[in-house]
Amino acid sequence: MKIIVANWKMNGDLDLVSAFIERINAIETKNTIVVCPPAALIREFNDFHHLIGAQNCFYEDKGAFTGENSPKLLKKLGCGCVIIGHSERRALFGETDEIVFKKHEAALRNELIPIVCIGEKANERVQWKHVLTKQIEKFIGAPLQNTIFAYEPVWSIGTGMIPTTEEIQEALAFIKNKLGRNVPCLYGGSVNASNAESILKVDTVDGLLIGGASLKPDEFAKITMM
Ligand code: 13P
Repeated sequence: MKIIVANWKMNGDLDLVSAFIERINAIETKNTIVVCPPAALIREFNDFHHLIGAQNCFYEDKGAFTGENSPKLLKKLGCGCVIIGHSERRALFGETDEIVFKKHEAALRNELIPIVCIGEKANERVQWKHVLTKQIEKFIGAPLQNTIFAYEPVWSIGTGMIPTTEEIQEALAFIKNKLGRNVPCLYGGSVNASNAESILKVDTVDGLLIGGASLKPDEFAKITMM
């Protein structure tokens, strides 16, 4: 059983929601499927037969934080998990490792499974171990029974470039070695229907976090059935 997560990012509309629900609800798979649509579309997934997640949440449950999404409300809306610290949030919205850690705590407090994203940038490839170590440092010793990590090399996101399966194996083994063998780890970055199968065969890979290909219901459906 693998965990296959769709991250729509700030894409999709009501038509895609309908097409996606119709296509993915018809699937028979032993894998766990999660869709993370933009927050404004979460309620449209009431008839979805699989899990719904959010792409981000704030670290407080309520208050004067204009524009932020409350983890407590996301839970009430039916979300089972939330992506935390995606590289786009880190790069464009100033999320630091400290903020990511606080969001992780907020997710757990609200019984949302955090999917914590980590990964090195293009100019950090040589020091990837150092970068990952820094990003996960705070999590060592934290309660991780209900946490998922996602290794998403930033240089691979939306570029069509992916690490070799050996590199993916090594990176996820490195993360599990630091955080505990049982922590589920996903791979994300330019996953599509052509490369998903070989990535899913990597022994340290517990699932996939998929951006672009998750916006194509047929292609995403194929991946969920691998
Ligand atoms: P792509 O699959 O489009 O490369 O995006 C990966 C990603 O960022 C998922 O969170």
